[in-house]
Amino acid sequence: NWTMEGLIDSMVEDIRAKVGNDRVILALSGGVDSSVVAALCARAIGKQLTCVFVNHGLLRKNEPEQVEEVFTKQFDVDFVHVHAEERYAKLLDGVTEPEQKRRIIGTQFWEEFFTVAQHTGGVKYLAQGTIYPDIIESGARKTGGKASTIKSHHNLIPFPEGVHFDLIEPLDHFFKDEVRALGTALGLPDYIVHRQPFPGPGLAIRIIGSVSPEKLEILKNADAIVREELDAYNARLFEETGERNSEHSCWQYFAVLPDIRSVGVMGDERTYARPIILRAVESSDAMTADWAKLPYDVLARISGRIVAEVPGVNRVAYDITSKPPATIEWE
Ligand code: XMP
Repeated sequence: NWTMEGLIDSMVEDIRAKVGNDRVILALSGGVDSSVVAALCARAIGKQLTCVFVNHGLLRKNEPEQVEEVFTKQFDVDFVHVHAEERYAKLLDGVTEPEQKRRIIGTQFWEEFFTVAQHTGGVKYLAQGTIYPDIIESGARKTGGKASTIKSHHNLIPFPEGVHFDLIEPLDHFFKDEVRALGTALGLPDYIVHRQPFPGPGLAIRIIGSVSPEKLEILKNADAIVREELDAYNARLFEETGERNSEHSCWQYFAVLPDIRSVGVMGDERTYARPIILRAVESSDAMTADWAKLPYDVLARISGRIVAEVPGVNRVAYDITSKPPATIEWE
């Protein structure tokens, strides 16, 4: 007789049996997969789990605070918040090429992570949120299949010389929907369980050209408005249809800050300020995507709010390109 609680109990038992009295470390991004593994390990081994949250300063507005809140107040684990914002800002200063941004961010991520791992001491295991499709995808990559990268993702762990951890990958037989169901059963909040995909390099690849604190501030504020309005839009559709990914709901939606300015007018004053590009797509697997046919009143609210509430922005454009030939992200 299959139940979710029964499944969780047996996964918890497996983790306990494997780990014994040893210590486990986990790179917690705040995404669905790593959060579910953290919640599962929290139930199994509590403070024997160290969650390392590397804050690169490129997350969306309020995200670091939310991750910290969940994994310090709700779950009883050893939570390490690595404030790497300034180191990242320095490394990214003046860098404009998208793949170079990705390399810098990915390399520094493991640098930060292993620094903590080595200081933690006695760590035997590394827990990871690998899910079944990740395994399929990396297999395809090794054999030169089509998952090989147009944009590089950093899934393979570059262990430093002489460092070795055994892996714990409790989700490696599960699909995303099942991982979400586990997350809900473990008590994770909806904003984590039903989070839209968010790239590891974060907002750095949504700022076209070089990243700066001023641009990050603008993008975070504009993006927060996009998410607020489209979360609400999706919630209305969910109420009407009972489906989370219904025909018209958006799958991924965010703001992009291009490296240009344009002329506008505010009161009697001419402005010369930044545009924001709205990107909202319908998709099921990110391999192909359609731009979302959002109602005009929703578009109007987003545009009106961004120009009214985000200083330095005087124009909003909507990206009406599908994938292919465009990609979902701009970089
Ligand atoms: P594209 O832009 O290639 O994106 O259509 C497809 C999906 O992948 C996400 N994406 C990334 N995720 N690291 C990640 O972890 C990355 O460098 C990266 N680039 C794109 C993107 O958000 C979309 O969901």
